[in-house]
Amino acid sequence: MRLLVLGGGAREHALVWKLRQSPLLSALFAAPGNPGIATHAELVAVDPNRPRAVTDFALQKRIDLVVVGPEAPLVAGVADALRAAGVEVFGPSAAAAQVEGSKAFAKDVMLAAGVPTARSEVFDDAQAAAARARAWGPVVVKADGLAAGKGVVVADSGEEAAAACLALGQVPAGKRILLEERLSGPELSVIALCDGTRFVLLPPSQDHKRIFDGDQGPNTGGMGAYAPAGLLADAELGEVGRAVIEPTLKELARRGAEFRGALYAGLMLTKEGPRVLEFNARLGDPETQPLLMMVKDDLVPYLQACARGRLEASAVALHSGAAVGVVLAAHGYPGTPRQGDQIHGLDGAQPPGVQVFHAGTRLSDDGKLVTAGGRVLTVCAQAESIAAARVLAYQVAEQVRFEGRHFRRDIAAKAPVH
Ligand code: AMP
Ligand code: GLY
Repeated sequence: MRLLVLGGGAREHALVWKLRQSPLLSALFAAPGNPGIATHAELVAVDPNRPRAVTDFALQKRIDLVVVGPEAPLVAGVADALRAAGVEVFGPSAAAAQVEGSKAFAKDVMLAAGVPTARSEVFDDAQAAAARARAWGPVVVKADGLAAGKGVVVADSGEEAAAACLALGQVPAGKRILLEERLSGPELSVIALCDGTRFVLLPPSQDHKRIFDGDQGPNTGGMGAYAPAGLLADAELGEVGRAVIEPTLKELARRGAEFRGALYAGLMLTKEGPRVLEFNARLGDPETQPLLMMVKDDLVPYLQACARGRLEASAVALHSGAAVGVVLAAHGYPGTPRQGDQIHGLDGAQPPGVQVFHAGTRLSDDGKLVTAGGRVLTVCAQAESIAAARVLAYQVAEQVRFEGRHFRRDIAAKAPVH
């Protein structure tokens, strides 16, 4: 089989690392990829956000399956263009990707499907949203559109919420605003590989979104993750499948927006049970990095079966133990990251069970590996326990050095052990 992976982050590096191990593979391309991905796949200079360019490349190279990493190509209609050209693709149509592209759409689907979620109201006018927020008090303010993780404000007062509404009204993603009941509890990610109606669940995982230890400081794209997250027992995970994933797929199909790809439910485990905070139309980043280190099965047949609408398996075989991923970020992240700092310590072989996945890296003109983005690397380790995986991941994280390097020391530190 000939595969093309779209994207160039650590999630996509983990994907190509895993896909490369498949005996079914005869060729593997990545667009645009990164220097880490280049060790497993041939990089191609095709813009993933241009459906026509991706489709032309896939046809020309006789690609059997395209795997879409990030959300932007999905929302831009890459999967639609590929399917129309007869190319199989793991990733939903633009219509189905609206579960991530529009929070109002996602809420509407959840309500119609009876999926447990926070109470909310939608506004097409920032002034009206601000007035309602002032009266509501502590409330969560969300931009409707894609805002690269910057579209949510958890406000402690009506005044703060009203100010957030007015600020969001100034950006394109905030033309429509949601106000949402403020819930509390630990957060968890549940990701399902879906074929339109059927699905398999990956183990629950947990992201760490704040920049500093102890969940302090501003939100980021994610500073680390681990899996499986023992906050959800096996039976409860199955219940999330039945109460969240299954009805959502059914409702999307009923609307003619069949979902073939990874459906990511961001959950809050409230005292009343799990509530969906958000859907993503793709695998999570950084969750995918530890998750794929836990997957024992060949991933290719799963992705192909989902793309074809013919998923028959009911579970993915996993390794025992756990995996932990620690993100190494650049100076200045999550603000404007500094680029061009040379990365040291990646030359030798890593210890068994360790993978270092690249995100914001590039080769300088004189061939040195340098930083080129906010989240630079995810150092991942898989071992017999979360504690052992943490020790291993942090041992390597310490050894990989660049000016301004920052990472959290408490990834998976509070993970409950079963
Ligand atoms: P989202 O992009 O919708 O996942 O929101 C980003 C973050 O905001 C989540 O990871 C939560 O920490 C927080 N958040 C979102 N919705 C709520 C809510 N209804 N109640 C409390 N916190 C929330
Ligand atoms: N880790 C959060 C996300 O992928 O959206």
